[in-house]
Amino acid sequence: MTIIDQLLIGQSSAIRKVKNLVSQVATSDLNAIISGESGVGKELVAQALHLSSHRKNRPFVKVNCAAIPSELLESELFGYEKGAFTGAERAKEGKFEIAHKGTIFLDEIGDMPLSLQSKMLQVLQDLHFSRLGGKEDVRVDCWVLAATNHDLEQDIRLGLFREDLYYRLNIIKIYIPPLRERPEDIEPLVYYFGRQLEEKIERPLFKFTGEILEVFRRCPWPGNVRELRNVVSRLMLLGDWDAVRQELLASDPAGIDGSELAGFPPLRDIEDGRRSPEQKFPSLKETKRRAVQDAERRLIASVLIETGWNRKKAAKILAVSYKALLYKIKELKLNRTD
Ligand SMILES: Nc1ncnc2c1ncn2[C@@H]1O[C@H](COP(=O)(O)OP(=O)(O)OP(=O)(O)O)[C@@H](O)[C@H]1O
Ligand SMILES: [Mg+2]
Repeated sequence: MTIIDQLLIGQSSAIRKVKNLVSQVATSDLNAIISGESGVGKELVAQALHLSSHRKNRPFVKVNCAAIPSELLESELFGYEKGAFTGAERAKEGKFEIAHKGTIFLDEIGDMPLSLQSKMLQVLQDLHFSRLGGKEDVRVDCWVLAATNHDLEQDIRLGLFREDLYYRLNIIKIYIPPLRERPEDIEPLVYYFGRQLEEKIERPLFKFTGEILEVFRRCPWPGNVRELRNVVSRLMLLGDWDAVRQELLASDPAGIDGSELAGFPPLRDIEDGRRSPEQKFPSLKETKRRAVQDAERRLIASVLIETGWNRKKAAKILAVSYKALLYKIKELKLNRTD
C-alpha cells in the first residue's frame, strides 16, 4: 500500500483521479493549486504530495494566508532583519527559508492581499528575495503548493486575484469534489474514522447500520469529510443516533428523508411543528416567501462558504451592499460552523 492510499481514503472515481494526479505530480516539483470546498481534504492532499515526493524528509511548512493579518503576512513569509519595523528586536527567518529544500503550503491563497500577490509573483519567478529591512539576497528551493476554497477565476474577474500569479501557481490543478458528489466514499471513510477512534476509546464499537449509512449517503455534508469525521466521533463516543439524525435533517435544505422528492414536504417541517395538522397546506403567498427565502439562504450560504466567510467579497459577488448582506445573514440566521 502506497503512502497515498494510506492517507487518502475512498474508492470513488473522483478520489481515484485525485490519487493518480498526486502520484504523477509528486515526482514533478511543478506548482499546484488544490481546490475544493471546506473540509474536502485539500491539506491532506498537500501532505500526500509532499510525503510521496523526494522532499519527504524535509520540512512541510504551512502558511494560512487567511488566518494571519495581512500586514504580518509578508514578514511571516519572507522574514525580517533586526530593526525592520518597530518591535523587530531580532532578525527572524520567514516560512520560505524554513521550507528550504522542502514544501511550502500556502493555504487559503485567495485571501492573500493584492499588494503581497505582486511580491509573491516575483519570488516565484526569480526564486530569491530579501527579508524585510534586509539587503542580502536569500535563495530558496521550495515546492510551492497552494489551496483555495474560492473560485479564483471569479476572483480574477472581480479584480481580487492577480491573473499572472494564478497561472504561475496553477501549473497543476487538483480539484477535490464535495463529499455529496461521491457518496461511495462515505462507507470506507466511516470505517476508517471508526477504526482510528476505536484504538483510542475503550467501549463497544458503535454499529453503523445500513440505515445510518443510507442517511449519510443522502446528506449534503456542507462541512464535507471534516463534518463526517465529527459525526462519526460523536456517534462512537455518545451513541446518540436519534439526536444526530435530527441535526443532519435540520441542516439539510432538501430533506434527507427523500420525501420531498415524492411530492411531500420535508420531514423536518412536520416534525418541528411549524405546520399544524388542520393547516394542511400553507397559503400561496407563504409558499412563495419560503421558496424565496430558501433560495436566498442556499445561495448566500454557498457564497459565504466559497469565500471562507469573507463578507466583503461575498457582498461583491452577490452584487449587494456589505450592509445589506449583513442584514440578510442575520435575517436568514446563517451561522459560521467551522
Ligand atoms: N480522503 C480522505 N481520507 C481520509 N481523511 C480525509 C480525507 N479527506 C479529508 N480527510 C480528513 O478530513 C479532515 C479535513 O481535511 P482537510 O483539513 O485536509 O480539509 P481542507 O480541504 O483543507 O479544509 P479547509 O478548506 O476547511 O481548510 C481532516 O481530518 C482530514 O484528515
Ligand atoms: Mg485546509
